[in-house]
Amino acid sequence: MKFHIFTFGCQMNAADSDWLARSLTGLGWSEADESEARVYILNTCSVRDKPEQKVYSQLGRLARHLAREPEMFCAVGGCVAQQVGEGLWDRFPFVRLVYGADGVAQAPSALDRLAREPRLRLSLLDFTESYAERDPALPEGQVSPQAFVNIMQGCDNFCAYCIVPYVRGRQKSRASGAILAECRALVERGVKEITLLGQNVNSYGLDAGGDGVSFPELLRRVAAVPGVARLRFTTSHPKDLDPAVVAAFADLENLCPSLHLPVQSGSDAVLARMGRKYDTARYLSLVESLKRARPDIALTTDLIVGFPGETEADFRATLDLVRQVGFEGCFSFMYNDRPGVAAAKFTPKVPQEIKSWRLSELIALQNAQQRAALKSREGRTSRVLVEGPGTCVATGLAAWRGRDEAGRVVNFAAEGTYSPGDMVSVCVLQAKKHSLWGEALP
Ligand code: SAM
Ligand code: SF4
Ligand code: F3S
Repeated sequence: MKFHIFTFGCQMNAADSDWLARSLTGLGWSEADESEARVYILNTCSVRDKPEQKVYSQLGRLARHLAREPEMFCAVGGCVAQQVGEGLWDRFPFVRLVYGADGVAQAPSALDRLAREPRLRLSLLDFTESYAERDPALPEGQVSPQAFVNIMQGCDNFCAYCIVPYVRGRQKSRASGAILAECRALVERGVKEITLLGQNVNSYGLDAGGDGVSFPELLRRVAAVPGVARLRFTTSHPKDLDPAVVAAFADLENLCPSLHLPVQSGSDAVLARMGRKYDTARYLSLVESLKRARPDIALTTDLIVGFPGETEADFRATLDLVRQVGFEGCFSFMYNDRPGVAAAKFTPKVPQEIKSWRLSELIALQNAQQRAALKSREGRTSRVLVEGPGTCVATGLAAWRGRDEAGRVVNFAAEGTYSPGDMVSVCVLQAKKHSLWGEALP
């Protein structure tokens, strides 16, 4: 059976899709181009209205195709599936499986059954009590040098704007032994860089599913796995970032100097209404301690403009904070009402036009900051983990592509040939718009 997966949303969805593809391959299915597939799987996101609408337009597009071929079908998984559930069947009769965050583990066997029983429809929407451990379905053959490892599911924070706790369920930590076993197995297959994944990794182990290992301890144990050349983790909530994690940036050599630390707003009044449980003073003191622990740390963040009641002064405070911290990258979003979240009832709403202006001003600032950060790398040497061959845009000559310690994309010219996973010293010659250009050192 040939399948094709469309993935929307965050890295947790990307990791789920990778796992699903490997697991289905293990059942004898094969991944195919959209034009050749017989089964389509949509792994969906409902964090804002736009990604949700993309799912409906994709299903609408597939509907024309599927109407002519009754044995073809769709599965919808992830956050929109959890939110809308079996309601998707009414609108899109060719959807024969809906599965949520905790249903992923059973999705491969459900799909296999559906392929054999054409009249059947299945839904896997129940939340489990504890982390639903999956069959490992480890990668075979040539593996990517980078891998994501889930350490938890769900979120207990209920930030006023966010749908995630409703669609991903309560926080459930994965057993530390299972995480370490997966990391060891990945390294044995050639993985060099591991990113630990969760909606709020800093509260790992604090729910009932915890086995007594805290996040800082887990970080140390994974860093100690022989062969883990680079370690990252995402996402971190500022209210839970433990001093022991800050210290790890100074002590653990393979912990990369980069951290995504979503601040959301630079206004204390807005942060309080968002229910984020920290203020800008706490955030700035964290930034200071992180820079003290690791002076070369590259900080990135998430920001929301136009949260209900956000004034021009609140927005200016966000711009000030972005300048003060000197973020290298920001994901900025216009606030969007989501069904059932607390902020949907907050007033006054900020008009769309004002949200757009604020977003463009913020993006202009963050682009300028990113350019300055990349420019400051010129003339310096970076250790680059090779991802594969590339080309030099200016000359068209063959080149190589990889990432430096902080996760910046580096394209470089070299006389030698490399394989994905090689580590190369590169002298950075030029900052491009979103990447660096350089030359391998002999
Ligand atoms: N768990 C992470 C955290 O706490 O920051 C990520 C949560 S969410 C998947 C990614 C980002 O989407 C958030 O950091 C926030 O900036 C943005 N976001 C969430 N809900 C939103 C909404 N209703 N409108 C606009 N942006 C939203
Ligand atoms: Fe959403 Fe807040 Fe949980 Fe992040 S911490 S997933 S923003 S509720
Ligand atoms: Fe989207 Fe769900 Fe991730 S709402 S951002 S796919 S947790």
